[in-house]
Amino acid sequence: MNSATATIADWRIYPVNSLPVALQRQPDGVEVTWSDARVSLFHHLWLRDNCPCPACVYPVTREQMFEIVDAPDDLSALDAQLDGSGCLAVQWSDGHASLYHPGWLRAHAYDEQSRAEREQQASRPLLWRAEMNQQLAHFDYQEVMTRDDVLLQWLRALRDTGLTQIRNAPTANGSLDGLARRVAFIRESSFGVMFEVQSKVDADSNAYTAFNLPLHTDLPTRELQPGVQFLYCLRNDAEGGDSRFVDGFAVAEELRRLAPDSFDLLTRTPVEFRNKSARNDYRCKAPIIALNEDGSYREIRIANFLRGPFDAPTEVMPALYKAYRLFIQLTREPHLQLNRRLQAGEAWVFDNRRVLHARDAFDPASGERHFQGCYLDRDEWLSRLYVLERQA
Ligand code: OGA
Ligand code: ZN
Ligand code: ZN
Repeated sequence: MNSATATIADWRIYPVNSLPVALQRQPDGVEVTWSDARVSLFHHLWLRDNCPCPACVYPVTREQMFEIVDAPDDLSALDAQLDGSGCLAVQWSDGHASLYHPGWLRAHAYDEQSRAEREQQASRPLLWRAEMNQQLAHFDYQEVMTRDDVLLQWLRALRDTGLTQIRNAPTANGSLDGLARRVAFIRESSFGVMFEVQSKVDADSNAYTAFNLPLHTDLPTRELQPGVQFLYCLRNDAEGGDSRFVDGFAVAEELRRLAPDSFDLLTRTPVEFRNKSARNDYRCKAPIIALNEDGSYREIRIANFLRGPFDAPTEVMPALYKAYRLFIQLTREPHLQLNRRLQAGEAWVFDNRRVLHARDAFDPASGERHFQGCYLDRDEWLSRLYVLERQA
């Protein structure tokens, strides 16, 4: 059997850049030495758990049917061999046989070096400041709509910087629908599948007035804030109403540097955001800065106009106000901001859980201003990106 016929238990393609050249049997596993001298130990249980054969993994879904708890306690390998094309073949003590593709095995090796290499290759947010005014990634509507490679470039820019612009888009009402669905299905909210950003007399949000909107994320009132926001400009003829953005992670990083105690407080203190109207009553209590388990940034949650009164222990309140005011002051720092007026036929597309957006007040008497917006959850656009990467 050769590597071309070894089953792969998922949908990715695994290039073979390094081959196993020697095996060393260990009491609890098989040690592989690779052609670049790296050594990876694979435990018996790990190998058996990851057997890709059609009895263990249903080939149609490529999801596992076998459960490792059903392997015998004393499972061991009777035999382990490399075949002519570098596949690892294992004969198990319970009679089962497994064959592992070298590219797959290398991509999942968990020796220290392999794990460090994966960590280093993983994408990370590229924090930005005012230099974004010159470096803003923008994409042509037609190209995004018709070319998968441009779609992938756009989604990568969105992942890395959290802020992108689409240009030369049609200004017909509802054109946003097709652009958003080119990426994924839309996340509906109480403001609709698509929301109309216009000054309205019966506004149910400050967004639908002509007031300025300070830097914020949308729907911080929901447990899961929408991942991507589209703001698509159909008309922008009114005086005022320019857009402004900051990278919330860059703001948090600046706060961490200037006032570590304040930073820490904003990562630990739940703040209530709420959005109440005659028919709705949304509430979410969560910290303004959320970190992942490894200390990296997960999300920023902020909208002063949707924030409830702070509820914190009496002795913490002064420090909480200090931290909050500092954070907001930093969002107002010109050296952290991008400022730009959106023109008809342009759209902002940004990571709403990271990048804060704002608009200046505008004068509705001076001309029409009409934006349409919608959201996609982070899982959806990332899934689209990963599937495109399989073919890239
Ligand atoms: C919003 C919003 C920005 C704008 O609708 O949430 O932030 O430019 N709008 O009108
Ligand atoms: Zn199997
Ligand atoms: Zn908004």
